[in-house]
Amino acid sequence: HQARITLDPAFKVAPVHRRTFGTFVEHLGRCVYTGIYEPDHPTADDDGFRGDVLDLTRELGVTTVRYPGGNFVSGYRWEDGIGPRDRRPRRLDLAWHSTETNEVGVDEFVRWCRKAGVEPMMALNLGTRGIAEALDLLEYSNHPSGTALSDLRAANGAKEPHGIRMWCLGNEMDGPWQTGHKTAREYGRLAAETARAMRTMDPTLELVACGSSGSSMPTFGAWEATVLEETYDVVDYISCHAYYEEKDGDLGSFLACSTDMEYFISSVTATADHVGARLKSRKRIDLSFDEWNVWYLSRFQAAPKPEGWPVAPPLLEDHYHLADAVAFGGLLITLLRNSDRVTAASLAQLVNVIAPIMTEPGGRAWRQTTFHPFAQASRYAAGHVLRVEPDAPTYETAEFGEVPLLHAVATHGEEGTTLFAVNRSADRPLSLEIDARGLGGGTRIVEATTLTDPDVYARNTADDPDRIKPRPNADVEHDPARVLLPPVSWNVIRLA
Ligand code: AHR
Repeated sequence: HQARITLDPAFKVAPVHRRTFGTFVEHLGRCVYTGIYEPDHPTADDDGFRGDVLDLTRELGVTTVRYPGGNFVSGYRWEDGIGPRDRRPRRLDLAWHSTETNEVGVDEFVRWCRKAGVEPMMALNLGTRGIAEALDLLEYSNHPSGTALSDLRAANGAKEPHGIRMWCLGNEMDGPWQTGHKTAREYGRLAAETARAMRTMDPTLELVACGSSGSSMPTFGAWEATVLEETYDVVDYISCHAYYEEKDGDLGSFLACSTDMEYFISSVTATADHVGARLKSRKRIDLSFDEWNVWYLSRFQAAPKPEGWPVAPPLLEDHYHLADAVAFGGLLITLLRNSDRVTAASLAQLVNVIAPIMTEPGGRAWRQTTFHPFAQASRYAAGHVLRVEPDAPTYETAEFGEVPLLHAVATHGEEGTTLFAVNRSADRPLSLEIDARGLGGGTRIVEATTLTDPDVYARNTADDPDRIKPRPNADVEHDPARVLLPPVSWNVIRLA
């Protein structure tokens, strides 16, 4: 197969937003306990944070971390997680049928964020709680001093305010599984009044209203329209959540799952703009794609539930293979391609729970296959996203009809130009010709790496952690620039 792409720095979509490379830490399974926090671990620091996980988080190039949920947040009382540890209550977590010990709360999370060099993004409980509790958490977190709650924070060891800028107004409130699930109108009113009150305390906050939990939700589209009718003037973002998995061995459809994400983004953008037009508003609502990933949700739903109310049980511990990483890379490409409207995103999640980083309690930590596309994109996507219109053969999929074999995006900045490309073909390499004349004479391919494997279902494990990792691609030609992309592969091609 042959494909061709033209790179021209004149065709800018938008700047690369660093917040595209956010992730998510939920009190779910082993994400917090034995994930980021494990005081008895050999690499643990004075705060009990695992040093190996902190190192891998930095290597992953994470920029923001959403916390503490997820479904968990809709039953969470943030006050349980502050003050002396021995006085913190143990509570039932209805979302994940677990016991929450509250050893980690907002103060510990913000400390961890400072160590990891990431920005915290806080989610509020609008399921079982409301405006007063949201305002209390905001005051506790961000007010400098001189009030009961800000002085309590200082007494708990955090003299400086946490300075949390981004706040999610609830989580997946459209989902019947959510504790405190609401209709769009009920939620929209509550979100609007919460946002208005929060803005009275600090008008510069960035607020995210809950959009749909997936494009297949029965209320998709209508939900966003109603919620934005209520909240348009007081929020900055509408959220999107999407998870994909290979179903019934249909690899072709799975590798094209970013087609659904593309549809999701264009539908929500159109809906938001429609509401803006009806309100005669010039304000533009951006998209926060604050949960996205490959997740074998159907396996989780079919699996027997753990007995009782365990503490930090292994839950949602998907072990990703090469094909998962390539589908994942396609999703990243789609997020970047839509940087004019998707200005923040969170990979769900960071560690152990559908995560790029895995750990053994008390033992090793390693990189899943999906770690690599994320780390490379965070590292090399810089400057502006360029509009590219690849010319590539197509293939037929059961789920999405005819889709191109090549999925790609490029970014261009001071340090050069980077092309991120996925070959979706299950069995054929793709010879990609790059027309780089627009980048100026003398521009050459300086590095090409490929993530692939003869076995598309090969995985990384604690014993073989580097089976799947980016390796130099030697099938490169110059004048004209050409790279051979193996079947089922994620590729990063750097030009300077
Ligand atoms: O990321 C796992 C779960 O997926 C989150 O808790 C929830 O928001 C979503 O349904």
